[in-house]
Order: sequence, then C-alpha cells, then structure tokens
Amino acid sequence: MLNHKAEDLLFRALVSELAADAKTNRMKKFIQHSNKTTYDHCMDVARHSYYLARRLHLQVDEKALVRGAFLHDYYLYDWHDYGDHLHGYHHPDRAVANARRDFDLTPKEIGIIRSHMWPLTLTKVPSSKEAVVVCIIDKVCSLRETLDRKSL
Ligand SMILES: [Fe+2]
Ligand SMILES: [Fe+2]
Repeated sequence: MLNHKAEDLLFRALVSELAADAKTNRMKKFIQHSNKTTYDHCMDVARHSYYLARRLHLQVDEKALVRGAFLHDYYLYDWHDYGDHLHGYHHPDRAVANARRDFDLTPKEIGIIRSHMWPLTLTKVPSSKEAVVVCIIDKVCSLRETLDRKSL
C-alpha cells in the first residue's frame, strides 16, 4: 500500500508525458466551465479518476485510466464560441480523432474518450472499468465547475 505522497508521485509519473506535451497544452487556451480551462478540467478528471479507482481497489489499468481521462476532452476548440447545442453529443468523437492523430493510444484509452458522455451518447456505452470511472468522475467535476459559476 502506497502512502499519499507516493500515490501522488505515481499519478504525476503517469500523466507527465501527456501533460508536458505542447499539443495538449493547447487546451489551456479554452474554457470548459466557469473560469476553468479544458486543460485543468482534464487534469482534475484524471486525478480524481485515479484516486477513486485506488480508494475503491478497482484493480484498473492505471496508465490507461489516467491517459484516457486526461485526453477525454481533447477536442481543441472553445465550445462557448460555437453556440452549438450539439457539442455534448459530438465532441467525444472529435477528441478521439484528435488524440489518435497526435498520440499512440491503446483501444482501452480510445474507449475511455469515446464513451465519456454516456448516456447522452446513447450507443457509446463505457466498456471497461476505466471508462465507467471516467464517465462518472467527468460528470462530478463538470457539475462542480458549473455550480461554482452559478454561485459567483
Ligand atoms: Fe466531454
Ligand atoms: Fe469533461
């Protein structure tokens, strides 16, 4: 069993390659909810997914979990600019396409990204423990960001 500091070091090691990449740093230009950038939102989802899986002893592929979570919103535009009510439906496919273009991903990592908006994207059902964790944690983080904005 790792102590908290060791767990945090392991998380940083798992996310560091993608987090330091200039391509993912483009997500810092876009706002997700409230005043949080897409980059910070993705980092939050990756971190909380990792810790939830650890606390529940889910025996997940932590590398796939963290990488898929970090890239889950790698769609690379500011959805507020579009006034696009369909953003929720189609941005997972855009994120998958961008991520496959820019990085070598496993099928599990791709599945995490593709299914993270389920059940909104009805047919894209999470098909791994990792995908279920990210699907849930993304909703928790998004709700918290949205409520933060409303309380201002
Ligand atoms: Fe998303
Ligand atoms: Fe998200």
